[in-house]
Amino acid sequence: MAEFAVRAAAAGDARALAELFAAVAGERDGIATEPPVDIAERAAQFAATIAGSVVAVAGGQLVGMIHVEATRHGFGEIGMCVDRDWRGRGVGSALLRAVISLARGQGLHKLSLEVFAHNAAAIALYRRAGFTEEGRRVRQYRRSSGELWDTIIMGLAL
Ligand SMILES: CC(C)(COP(=O)(O)OP(=O)(O)OC[C@H]1O[C@@H](n2cnc3c(N)ncnc32)[C@H](O)[C@@H]1OP(=O)(O)O)[C@@H](O)C(=O)NCCC(=O)NCCS
Repeated sequence: MAEFAVRAAAAGDARALAELFAAVAGERDGIATEPPVDIAERAAQFAATIAGSVVAVAGGQLVGMIHVEATRHGFGEIGMCVDRDWRGRGVGSALLRAVISLARGQGLHKLSLEVFAHNAAAIALYRRAGFTEEGRRVRQYRRSSGELWDTIIMGLAL
């Protein structure tokens, strides 16, 4: 089992969160954002919402993050990413478990997310955690390549 720890994010993590987010955006595959990512601006956004973030750290490096944004309607929207070199070692599953517990603690009644329809690893991860598919947005996201990508909406009652 790989050695990593999951903990609540702290204000000092904001820049590393932005750098991880930018690296995953550079893959142009799993998350909606594509380059360029303004690291300083993104770090400020993470810092402002740090209470909703959980991180995975290994050897002093931030290797994964998940964020829940509580809406005023009682549900939370989640987004996550794991460093490419750390995928497939249980980091995503551990982050998801932690954010479900955080969301319950915040009194949210449901978690919701949107995932690209081709993202089989993420969809499998969410299904294993109990999320079910609630709908599909067709040709919703225009990519820098010009392609139009579908997303799946998934939800988990807490
Ligand atoms: C999705 C993501 C967060 C998963 O993180 P992770 O740390 O690799 O997750 P885990 O190791 O806990 O679990 C991954 C699981 O997916 C499985 N998997 C990998 N590729 C797969 C595929 N093509 N089809 C189905 N399952 C797949 C792995 O086998 C593993 O399952 P297991 O635990 O039964 O072995 C990570 O791949 C990632 O950051 N991707 C890029 C960003 C992204 O897509 N974010 C989600 C946006 S909605």
